[in-house]
Amino acid sequence: MKRENVVGRANVEDTPALEAYYRELEKRELGALWNFANEIEPWFPQPKSVPILWKWRDIEPLVRKAPELVSAEKAARRVVVLVNPGRKEWSAAAGLLYTGVQIMNPGEFTSAHRHQASALRFIMEGKGAYTVVDGERLSLGARDFVLTPNGTWHDHGVEAGGTQCIWQDGLDIPLMNSLDANFYEVHPQVVQTPAPLPRENWKKPYSPVFLYKWDSCFAELRTEKIFEYKNPLTGGSVMPTMGARLELIKGNTRPIRHTGSVIYQAAAGHGWSEVGGQRFEWEEKDIFVVPSWTRYRHGAAAEAVLFSFNDFPAMQALGLYREAED
Ligand SMILES: [Fe+2]
Repeated sequence: MKRENVVGRANVEDTPALEAYYRELEKRELGALWNFANEIEPWFPQPKSVPILWKWRDIEPLVRKAPELVSAEKAARRVVVLVNPGRKEWSAAAGLLYTGVQIMNPGEFTSAHRHQASALRFIMEGKGAYTVVDGERLSLGARDFVLTPNGTWHDHGVEAGGTQCIWQDGLDIPLMNSLDANFYEVHPQVVQTPAPLPRENWKKPYSPVFLYKWDSCFAELRTEKIFEYKNPLTGGSVMPTMGARLELIKGNTRPIRHTGSVIYQAAAGHGWSEVGGQRFEWEEKDIFVVPSWTRYRHGAAAEAVLFSFNDFPAMQALGLYREAED
């Protein structure tokens, strides 16, 4: 069925009088809806983000070069950002999600700050990394998952006796900026003085658990095949806007599509994904994205693990989450 023939969709021929009328409208910051209604009211989601795979072997040399060129102190956050070619204006990896790869040498640290954007990290490699979240100091090892929920003070670094550390940052910066709701503050101290964070009568909208160690998550994943990082108090997502999970892939998954975006990192093993008709061959530390309403499936000949984070909690909270197996 041709869309322009469907009742309720615009099909207006331009005439000199109409064109003159459009120019009059434009002069007064006005517009004729019938000219762009099809664009702003699509039949189904039309993400600007494209499916994309970043191979670790392409990212890694550039990530490792950053510390040679700029100090962690001067950069404040020395991160190589993964920007979707369709979402450059929002610095998004896909949809409303941002991701970057951060590198830190032993003894380096970032100064304490907080922001309205929620953040999560998946540690890719290294020993001695730590983060301090609202005063609580957490030691991070490879494949650990850690939260810095919105509004929490945080600083992080690598102990002097550690090794060069690399992790993936995931934030909802594009969501905060598209809602015009982002804030950023600098802590009065350069680094926070560590102190235990009380958990009694926890009323905050995010998980009281900030650190999810790989070994225990992986043990559960082996039996469940999918491991959701959860807020243990609610059984829901770790933060109000973003969720995260591990998936054990062996054989093929069923094709699915849904609203909301997903950023994947291959945490172990190798396999492939078909995303919007494109085939991505991935191996450990490769990062790829699934834009909203894009059909995809995964596969692996031998057991592989995919880490991912998503904006499903934000979509669900707004009643916008929808999925289809077709
Ligand atoms: Fe931050």
